[in-house]
Amino acid sequence: MREQPDATRRKLLKGLAGYSLSATLFPATTMADQSTTISRAIPGTAERLPAIGLGTWQSFDISARQDLAEAKQSLRLLAGQGYSVVDSSPMYGKSEAVVGQLASELGLEGKLFLATKVWTRGYDAGVRQMEESCRLMATRCMDLMQIHNLVDAAIHVKTLREWKEAGRIRYFGISHYHASAYGEVERFMKAEHPDFLQINYSLAEPESAERLLPLARDLGIAVIVNRPFAEGELFNRVKGRALPGWAADFDAASWAQFFLKWILADSAVTCAVPGTRKPNYLQDNMAAARGRLPDPALRARMSTLMRFTP
Ligand SMILES: NC(=O)c1ccc[n+]([C@@H]2O[C@H](COP(=O)([O-])OP(=O)(O)OC[C@H]3O[C@@H](n4cnc5c(N)ncnc54)[C@H](OP(=O)(O)O)[C@@H]3O)[C@@H](O)[C@H]2O)c1
Repeated sequence: MREQPDATRRKLLKGLAGYSLSATLFPATTMADQSTTISRAIPGTAERLPAIGLGTWQSFDISARQDLAEAKQSLRLLAGQGYSVVDSSPMYGKSEAVVGQLASELGLEGKLFLATKVWTRGYDAGVRQMEESCRLMATRCMDLMQIHNLVDAAIHVKTLREWKEAGRIRYFGISHYHASAYGEVERFMKAEHPDFLQINYSLAEPESAERLLPLARDLGIAVIVNRPFAEGELFNRVKGRALPGWAADFDAASWAQFFLKWILADSAVTCAVPGTRKPNYLQDNMAAARGRLPDPALRARMSTLMRFTP
């Protein structure tokens, strides 16, 4: 059932021209050690983040006992293997509270890189919401506070600078999930120079590589990738299809790793946050941050495969 390697590198590089956009890639031969987790530096700091984290939209908006047990197991797994980034938002229902409660039960204080968002209008409402997020996520200092979908960004960015100065957050950023907002995102990045950009980027939604990711690299802005599976759509596209044999050339053992390694091969990316609470999915996703990454030719081949997989 496995696809046979067929095209030559040259043929693939030719195909690369129109599709890889301006991504700067890591050579496939680096980071081949399966026991080492790929991590990326937050620009301008000595701090590194494991290149895979955990998204909690829907997946952690839960209250059933069984779901909480599953989420707890995932958080234990994440931290136990040295991964740390957990992304939430007040928009995600119970997610912040669930992360905070489970992290406390597991004694993970200080072991996670907690990222959440401000998602409201007005200075006072923003302050109240961020204070509540810190309470719910059981931290006095949030690692990363992002302006969710740029809502009232001009107001919140001032508060975020004050909070950073006061040590109430360590980094601030903006987030969005849709190409229609890229112009506004770009203007914000240039004007405000946030520490982090969180943006959608995947084999199904590669457009942020056109301008935003190169800009982030140029400005020294860390990048968190959301919707790495286009909210699961990528799995639908490959349903019933075997992983191509050449995925072994960059140590991808599953479709999830195939999709994530394509993202991580872009050097502008600091971390991707696939959403799940399932321990087996999380384990699968974390493995994408080990072993080799695809080189430009392989990456082009991945893009071509997915373009022709409706
Ligand atoms: N504007 C914003 O700031 C913004 C917008 C969107 C997303 N985000 C952040 O980004 C995170 C990720 O985005 P997302 O959750 O929308 O979409 P996603 O990560 O692209 O996809 C999530 C889907 O993939 C499935 N999945 C995860 N790992 C899998 C695996 N190893 N094998 C098979 N299926 C797998 C999940 O299944 P199960 O549900 O069954 O686990 C879920 O259906 C969010 O959770 C959130 O933290 C932020």
